[in-house]
Amino acid sequence: MWEHRMEPRSEHRLKWAGILGTGISLPGNIFTNHDLEKMVDTSDEWIIKRTGIRERRIIDKDKPLHQLGIEAAEKALLSAGIGSEELDLIIVATDTPDYLTPSMACLVQRGLSARNAAAFDLNAACTGFIYSLAVADNFIRTGYYSYVLIVCCESLSRVVDWKDRSTCVLFGDAAAAVVVGPVDGNLGIISTCLGAEGNLGHNITIPCCYISEEDLEKRSGERKMTLWMDGSEVFKFAVGIMAFATEKIVMDSGLSMDDIKLIIPHQANIRILDGAAKRLGLSENMVYSNIHKYGNISSASIPVALNEAVEDGRVALGDNIVLVGFGGGLTWGAALLRWAK
Ligand code: ACO
Repeated sequence: MWEHRMEPRSEHRLKWAGILGTGISLPGNIFTNHDLEKMVDTSDEWIIKRTGIRERRIIDKDKPLHQLGIEAAEKALLSAGIGSEELDLIIVATDTPDYLTPSMACLVQRGLSARNAAAFDLNAACTGFIYSLAVADNFIRTGYYSYVLIVCCESLSRVVDWKDRSTCVLFGDAAAAVVVGPVDGNLGIISTCLGAEGNLGHNITIPCCYISEEDLEKRSGERKMTLWMDGSEVFKFAVGIMAFATEKIVMDSGLSMDDIKLIIPHQANIRILDGAAKRLGLSENMVYSNIHKYGNISSASIPVALNEAVEDGRVALGDNIVLVGFGGGLTWGAALLRWAK
């Protein structure tokens, strides 16, 4: 299905770009599986067994999501040692913006007083961080920009149908940010690859300004602009594409699986991670997982996990790590980083 996309993308580089700093902001409100048991016909046992999720964070009702993004961005800037006025570009990856306009990126730009930065939103659902990283890498490698801030923030709790047990148990809210900037040669973002399968997009939908008859039929609740998903179709796609994209990015980078220290995948379901690891013949401890704490936090999933892995000492200078994800669209992507900090 994806064999045609095997050309390496690591050449044509004037400069090298890498992640200079990371930061996260998590809502304080922890919502456990037992809390969900009181709302829908489910059980802690089912959710843990079928997904690996134990709890998730839920944003306060009166807090705009961009505020969570600004908090994560401030931490990333501090960790990178970069002032907000040095930023050339702000990209916000999100499925759940506060407004269609102004963009989340403009709201973050205002909040940070990053007056020299251009700003735009990017929607690639759960693959939003990988897509944003590829955009930042290309802007920096060509010399067009020096410092790019990526903010991934999601408030899935605002778009799920809390009466639909097949989806409401899966998602959570969070924000994460990274600063991407110039690094020494042969470090940083070694390679990225992106893909989309728009013909499968109907398997995860969140209507916004328009709703079709088909979308209406799928939603039995009163609220109609909610997330709907065919979980088993997405599951099948996810396991195959995670394994494919991981192999591809390692090969594109001229490396072998033995050179990889850690794989940080999108956290959607522990069974997807286990299935992909099995296909790749990887041991469990090579695949980072924190899904039990946050559930699926869409675009924020990989950068939250990356921030944790760095803080836990699982990633050190010079380590090769693979970031790999898939999501609504459907989209997929991977990046190989040689940790530069
Ligand atoms: N509690 C109890 N039972 C449940 C629940 C629940 N929360 N949800 C579903 N069930 C029931 C179903 O009704 C079904 O019952 P039935 O057999 O009587 O009909 C049974 O459990 C099995 O349902 P399945 O859908 O087959 O369950 P499955 O094991 O496939 O797990 C899940 C469902 C967790 C959704 C899985 O398919 C999955 O993780 N899919 C991938 C989702 C994903 O990765 N999405 C990412 C993209 S999202 C984005 O980009 C925004």
